[in-house]
Amino acid sequence: MEKDYTEDDVRNEVKTKVFGKNLVFFDEIDSTNDFLKKNVMEFPEGTVIVAKSQTNGRGRRGNNWENGESDSVFMSFLVKPNVKFDSLLRISLVCSLSVLQALKFTGIDVGIKWPNDIIINNKKVCGILTECVTHKNGLNSLIIGIGMNVNNSSFNGSLEDKATSLFLEGVDTNIPFVIASILSAIEKNYYTYLQYGFGFFINEYKKRCININKDVVVINGDTKVNGKIIDVNRDGTLLFESEDGKTSNLLSNEISIRGVNGYI
Ligand code: BTN
Repeated sequence: MEKDYTEDDVRNEVKTKVFGKNLVFFDEIDSTNDFLKKNVMEFPEGTVIVAKSQTNGRGRRGNNWENGESDSVFMSFLVKPNVKFDSLLRISLVCSLSVLQALKFTGIDVGIKWPNDIIINNKKVCGILTECVTHKNGLNSLIIGIGMNVNNSSFNGSLEDKATSLFLEGVDTNIPFVIASILSAIEKNYYTYLQYGFGFFINEYKKRCININKDVVVINGDTKVNGKIIDVNRDGTLLFESEDGKTSNLLSNEISIRGVNGYI
């Protein structure tokens, strides 16, 4: 159910001070993440790229991301935190929590599938692709791409059982409002994170994380290991106990987690 919107609609909704102050809007682009990556040196922290459609949207682990016009949020933003590489995972977890908070207006029970899939009724409504560019001076730029299904009225093929949209969950809203809500939550949480660290968010993240205490299969390339998710650690990694009783900490980069017993 396409609901058209314009660049002005987005600019009029966005109320944040830093995030979106520099906003670049496209009717169509290959990928908002790729655009930001190519131009990372030119843009300041808080730059936001919004596109009405993407022709080559990318997801985690080399997957494609749906490109449908005007029915989804396609947005990336740039942060240049003066923090070590290993804290970047936690910034991306804070972003997923921010997206979840931004959806509070829907009144729907929203969860996070670690590290940063946003889930409603056991289906994915939003995915986040975090990419890091390390500069010669050792500092990192982080590009955080958010794809949220807002007005999609159906999904094809293998997505049919796995994806949902706000519209399909009974929420009547519009993309500029959703973008502005996400940016407000992220702006607030990003600076809180820089000041207080992930410890400030861990309890809320855990409360909203749907994986804890679930039986799962952890997939890493061709390797599959069955086990159970025990907890989210304070460093943002996932504490996993395999069937043979060994525990390990999972890093988000390449792994994928599938729930068993009908869980996503
Ligand atoms: C995932 O696999 O769950 C992450 C999906 C991220 C998709 C968004 S859409 C905006 C931005 N541009 C991209 O090419 N990907 C991200």
